[in-house]
Amino acid sequence: MEKHKIAIIVGSLRKDSVNRKIALTMAAIRDDSLECTIVEIGDLPLFNQDLEATPPEAWVKFRDAIRPMDGVLFVTPEYNRGIPGALKNAIDVGSRPYGQSVFSKKPAAVVTASPGGVGGFGANHQLRQCCVFLDMPIMAQPEAYLGGVNDGSFDADGQLKDGPLKDVVAGLAHAFAAWVDLITKGRAALV
Ligand code: FNR
Repeated sequence: MEKHKIAIIVGSLRKDSVNRKIALTMAAIRDDSLECTIVEIGDLPLFNQDLEATPPEAWVKFRDAIRPMDGVLFVTPEYNRGIPGALKNAIDVGSRPYGQSVFSKKPAAVVTASPGGVGGFGANHQLRQCCVFLDMPIMAQPEAYLGGVNDGSFDADGQLKDGPLKDVVAGLAHAFAAWVDLITKGRAALV
């Protein structure tokens, strides 16, 4: 399998985010085929179309970081049954100017993790809805609503401890690597 460049966008800004640790665990599990980079979203000014005349430096940097990637992995908590504002802002910033979205056609997967039992189902599907509009081929299965994830789920290095949750996350990492490979090869065949 060819190595693919993946942007990881984490919806939580907090240092000890369990979602960030899930993302890093996925990256470590498939580091043979996924070259993952977390693209930070915490310093992006709120999207305002009026600023496009002279876009803020942080917007330009973010767009430049996503553009050359082969795929995008979203890993996010759910806030009030929806997507965290910081993540929605990053999506809006990356999607504009009109016709120049840096997300377009990039294969994607959505993973949501929460200490609660529902595993971020609401945010997961809100984000999938955005991906459809952004024309991102989104991995349909396996779905990833990871419930019961908390600080105790990880070892001192921030990696998931061995157990059923890690098995699920490993399955996601393998499926996403295969998905990116499939879409990339399919696109090359069409050119
Ligand atoms: C939450 N949390 C939460 N959890 C959930 O399962 N569904 C929800 O709707 C919400 N809503 C919510 C709103 C806000 C503003 C906060 C701060 C938190 C709890 C959330 O899942 C928990 O804090 C996670 O640990 C956040 O993810 P990170 O930061 O650990 O990745």
